[in-house]
Amino acid sequence: MADMRDRFPGLANGWARFDGPAGTQVVDTSIDATADWQRSGNNANSHGPFLAAAACDELVERTRATMGELLGADPNGLMFGPSTTANVFSITRAIGRDLGPGDEVVCTKLDHDSNIAPWLHVAADTGATVHLADFDPESGRLPVDAVTSLLGDRTCWVAVTGASNAIGTMPDIGAITDAAHQVGAKVMVDGVHLTPHAPVDVSAIGCDVYSTSSYKWYGPHAAITWVEPGLLAALVPYKVRPADDKGPDRLQLGTPSFEALAGIDAAARFLLEEGMESLASYERSVFDRLLSGLLGMAQVTVLGPHDLADRAPTLAFRVVGQSPHETASTLARAKVAVWDGDYYAVELMASYGHDDGAVRAGIARYITDDDVDRLLDAVDAL
Ligand SMILES: Cc1ncc(COP(=O)(O)O)c(C=O)c1O
Repeated sequence: MADMRDRFPGLANGWARFDGPAGTQVVDTSIDATADWQRSGNNANSHGPFLAAAACDELVERTRATMGELLGADPNGLMFGPSTTANVFSITRAIGRDLGPGDEVVCTKLDHDSNIAPWLHVAADTGATVHLADFDPESGRLPVDAVTSLLGDRTCWVAVTGASNAIGTMPDIGAITDAAHQVGAKVMVDGVHLTPHAPVDVSAIGCDVYSTSSYKWYGPHAAITWVEPGLLAALVPYKVRPADDKGPDRLQLGTPSFEALAGIDAAARFLLEEGMESLASYERSVFDRLLSGLLGMAQVTVLGPHDLADRAPTLAFRVVGQSPHETASTLARAKVAVWDGDYYAVELMASYGHDDGAVRAGIARYITDDDVDRLLDAVDAL
C-alpha cells in the first residue's frame, strides 16, 4: 500500500482524502503522460499533413481504444469533451430536435443534476414532459419498478445513474435498460460515479449513451461519452460547419484537449492494470470499516444503504445537532477532506428533506484503514 500511495503525489501533504467523489488525486503515470505530451512537440491538431498532426490522430485513436477496452464499448462511439455535464448538454440538445409535445423522458431523483437538468431544458424547449422516478430514501435503493412504472408508449428516453454520487446506490441499470428498450425508449446512463468503482461492460448493459469523467478515476479533468454508433449517425448535432461530420467527432465541440487525452489514456491504463475487480474489492474492505464505524456511533445518521450490496464505496452522513458544514470544517482541522452539501444531487437531498445536505465521504484506491480511523476518531470526538 505504501507503494500505491507513492503513486499519487497529491497525497504527500498528509491529508486523508475522502473527497474522491468530487475528484480524485491524479496517478503518477497520468500526470507524466500529460506533461510528456506537452513537451513532445506533438501538440498540434487533427488531420494534418505533418508528423505532429499524425501524432494527434494516433493519440485520439489510442485513447478511444483504451476507453473502449475499459468500458466494454465500441471505440467508434467514444467522444471526448471537457466534462460530462457539457457532453450531456451537447447530446440532449441534438436529441431534442426529435422531441415534441406528448413525448416523455424518465429521469430519477437518485441522479446528479447533470442527468436531470439538461432534460428539463430540452422539455422546456420542445414541450416534452419529464417524469422523475422516486428512490426509497429509507433504504437508499431505486427499485427497477420505480422507473418501469413510469414507462409508456410515448417514453423516448430514460436517464439513470449507474451509481449515486451521494449515497453510493447502484441501481439495476441492465434491467432498466431492457424494460426501456421494450417500449422503444433509449437509455442514457450517467456512469461518472460507477466507472471508478466497478467493472463496467457497456455492451452488456445495452444502454445507448454512457458517460464518465476521468477526473473521478485518477486522471485529468475531462469526460468521455459513448454514444451507440447507430444513434450517433442518426443525431443531427449542433456543430460548426467545417468540423468533422463523421463518427464521434460530430458531437465534439472544438479541438479536444490532447494533453487531457494523454492523461485519460494513462489513467484508464492504470485502472486496467490494477483490474477493476481487485480495485473494487480493496475499496469494499476499507469502506466496510468506514460504514460500520459510522453506523456504530449513536450521534451519527448514515443516509442511504446500510450494507455493502450493489453500491459504490461512498456515503453521506449527518451528526446530530451539527450542520454538515460544521462537521466538515471540524474534520478539515484534523486534515480529513470531506464535502458537505448536496454535491449537485439536488433531488436526492430534497427527498431527504435536508436543506443543508449531508457530509460525504468516499473511498478511493489510495485510502487506507488509517485514513478511515482518522475520520472515525474525528467524528467520535464531536
Ligand atoms: C454522478 C455524477 N454525474 C455527473 C457529474 C458531473 O460530472 P462533470 O463534472 O464531468 O460534468 C458528477 C460530478 O460530480 C457526478 O458525480
